[in-house]
Amino acid sequence: MVELIQAALDMGWPILAFLVCLLVYFQVSISDPAKKKQATFKTFIGMIAAFMLLMAIANYKINFFANSRLLPVSLAMITALAFMMGIYFTNIGALFKIGGFMFLVAAGLSGYGNWLPQVEGGFPPAEVKLDFGSMSAQQLADEGEKIIFGGIGQSKVQGAIGKGQCPLCHGFNEGFLSERAPNLWGVPDRAKTRLDDPRYHKGKPGDRDTEQKEAFPGSGTAETGQEYIAESHSCPSCFVVAGFGVKGTNDKQSPMPAIHKPPISLSLGELAAVDTWMYVREGKEAPSFEEITKAYEKFIPEADRPKQTEDKPGAAGGGGVLATGEEPVDQIFQKATCVACHTIPGIAGAVGTIGPKLVEGTNAPTRIKDPAYKGTAKSTREYITESVINPSAFVVKGFPDNTMPKEFGKKLSAGALNKIVDYLSQLQEGKEPPKIS
Ligand code: HEC
Ligand code: HEC
Repeated sequence: MVELIQAALDMGWPILAFLVCLLVYFQVSISDPAKKKQATFKTFIGMIAAFMLLMAIANYKINFFANSRLLPVSLAMITALAFMMGIYFTNIGALFKIGGFMFLVAAGLSGYGNWLPQVEGGFPPAEVKLDFGSMSAQQLADEGEKIIFGGIGQSKVQGAIGKGQCPLCHGFNEGFLSERAPNLWGVPDRAKTRLDDPRYHKGKPGDRDTEQKEAFPGSGTAETGQEYIAESHSCPSCFVVAGFGVKGTNDKQSPMPAIHKPPISLSLGELAAVDTWMYVREGKEAPSFEEITKAYEKFIPEADRPKQTEDKPGAAGGGGVLATGEEPVDQIFQKATCVACHTIPGIAGAVGTIGPKLVEGTNAPTRIKDPAYKGTAKSTREYITESVINPSAFVVKGFPDNTMPKEFGKKLSAGALNKIVDYLSQLQEGKEPPKIS
């Protein structure tokens, strides 16, 4: 609500300021007391109406992508407003009343459609298995945008992230600085030219200087741009873009997780959707669904292909809460994407290398004693909480600042944060991790 009023004021303050001026002007210029009173009254009504209109628009702007139940509220507000204007401005009253009635009907209908299932059911949304193979390129691209960013249109929203987790590391917009990983704008064209990179061996895969020579024995290397993209996604360490390897490995090992493996586990259909989006959003023609899946089949053996899951919202979807705290702690680490950047002993799939290994039972006491430490934590638990909520309070030496997302304080429930702190504080270098209950 506060957010809404704020947005309305941000947008409409010139209009409101104008009406206030008008009010002052009437006070000064009209001498007949009856007329003056009427003019003042009408301007007040006008101000309330203008404010409601602004709120209604703000409500639309804020909640449009969120698929929110608040949307009909906007229509209801416009209805009320039209009637109000109709009553006080009698000369054009009929018009307002007709308009108001139309909005009432619209609000009623959309409100009915919008409220009904949620209010009645409490049932989980039907689990739809998406049939990627029979979608148009645009439909596939939309699914791809949902997987990468959490929703259609979300690619334009700063910080949006979906279950693919790509924006944790990659910039996507043209010209956008992307330090952790290559900016993915231009990848459809760039992919072909990567094959000419002397470090990308076309001949025997064994000639490669990377940690992993081939996606699997006998898979060979990429021969087309699309195959390069498929290989990048399924075997990041097969070829590492110069300068982006794990520190100290001389670009032999990539920090990117294989995205068909846990925790991301995209199915071939989902991978095709992601790729299609990367072509379509640049206005390029994407290879067909069959061509894309064929490229993936070259690098992902049958047994490693994840079964397509139901169309549940992505693990880290949209702007909502990442973890409620009811999940076991390993799921919390996965849902909150910590595993993409951190190695966490005892947590499956937590092999990230962008941030430090989270043996906080050992690390935290040393950090607090560090003369450079300027935070406020006095205990291991406090240090972990601070690191999650305010990552810049202390930046661990050898790691970049401003890399760990700063909105975990808002996106984790207190229960989830508590479980994270409990678990991490028990981890010590050289000791067995605790059992997960
Ligand atoms: C933990 C960080 C991280 C995540 C998450 C991540 N990547 Fe990457 N990605 C990298 C890094 C670093 C590189 C460059 C090193 C290499 O070539 O592997 C890279 C390379 C790539 C490349 C090759 C780029 C080029 O210019 O040749 C593509 C394509 C790519 N990633 C796509 C994706 C997609 C799609 C996702 C999400 C489904 C994703 N990445 C998730 C870190 C990440
Ligand atoms: C995009 C990568 C990224 C993600 C996602 C991420 N972190 Fe980090 N984290 C870092 C980096 C880089 C550092 C080191 C720099 C710093 O201190 O800010 C760090 C530091 C930390 C530290 C301090 C470690 C120490 O030994 O002092 C803790 C604790 C931590 N992260 C916990 C988490 C948890 C819990 C999550 C998930 C809720 C998470 N991080 C998600 C990148 C990430």
